[in-house]
Amino acid sequence: MKVFVSRLIPDTGLQLLKQAGLQTTVWTEDRQITQQELIEQAKQHDALLCMGSDKMDAHFLTQCQHLKVIAQFSVGYDNVDVAVATRLGIPFGNTPDVLSDATADVAFLLMLAVSRKAFFMHKRIISGEWGTYRPTLNLGMELKNKTLGIFGLGRIGMELAKRCRGAYNMNVIYHNRSHNVQAEQELQARKVSFEELLAQSDVLSVHVALSPETEGKFNADVFRKMKPSSIFINTARGKIHQEQDLIQALNEGWIWGAGLDVTNPEPMLPDNPLLSMPNAAVLPHIGSATVQARNDMARLAATNIIAGLHGKRLPHCINPEVYKKDKSISN
Ligand code: DGY
Repeated sequence: MKVFVSRLIPDTGLQLLKQAGLQTTVWTEDRQITQQELIEQAKQHDALLCMGSDKMDAHFLTQCQHLKVIAQFSVGYDNVDVAVATRLGIPFGNTPDVLSDATADVAFLLMLAVSRKAFFMHKRIISGEWGTYRPTLNLGMELKNKTLGIFGLGRIGMELAKRCRGAYNMNVIYHNRSHNVQAEQELQARKVSFEELLAQSDVLSVHVALSPETEGKFNADVFRKMKPSSIFINTARGKIHQEQDLIQALNEGWIWGAGLDVTNPEPMLPDNPLLSMPNAAVLPHIGSATVQARNDMARLAATNIIAGLHGKRLPHCINPEVYKKDKSISN
């Protein structure tokens, strides 16, 4: 059986596919494959290992409904029309858990970088503007005993909360639909309303999935309700904040700073004002970019493909409803 892989992934995953006797074709061009090219490739294969940047919409899925399994190399799946995949009976896999530490590290890194204007200060050295010692300039914010607010306290948010509690004894509040009992017990985290989250957070970090409910959620109205001394962090998806409103919030001092690992669009254009602002820090979506996380993601994605091609339930499936239709699938 044949698998198409839409980007070069770590060898851990490719080796697993090979050991399972699967014939694998990898897209090796140094550009994103277009949807039409992906359809043409997928038509010649039995399974697809794709990226979060591939559009898995109704058009693609309908054209490629012969696929026995699709496994995505990411935890987020806002690029997927899950309902259509389920209706067409295609099991769809993702890679949860294995990137939580790496992504929480990037949120923590951005929080510290913004609190000390680190990226901006680094650029000042490069541009020859180090200058002389000035006791009243370049001042940052300390984080000890401050309040961390988490919008969407799941696996990644939990890892960030642990880091902030351990390093700075930060008080943790969060806004979720349901209680996170583990966080309440282990970190004394407190569930609050969205309005309270905005009003009380010194650092507000976003860890929700992108959905119609969260798209554009952080807009001018929301930024105006945050503390002028607060830091906004987004390592989830760029579409969750409205960029022009964020720029205005930073320029007019509605909030103190912002750290982003995700933007809209991606890649961000090099002349984006956020890249030269003293109170902003931007990274190019590197949340899961560690050797360990990417190896584990490759392993999970390959494991999902192998299970799907053997007619077994995917170990990490985003549409388990697909199995309700087919009683012959084993665990
Ligand atoms: C994910 O896995 O969803 C991360 O954002 C990396 O793309």
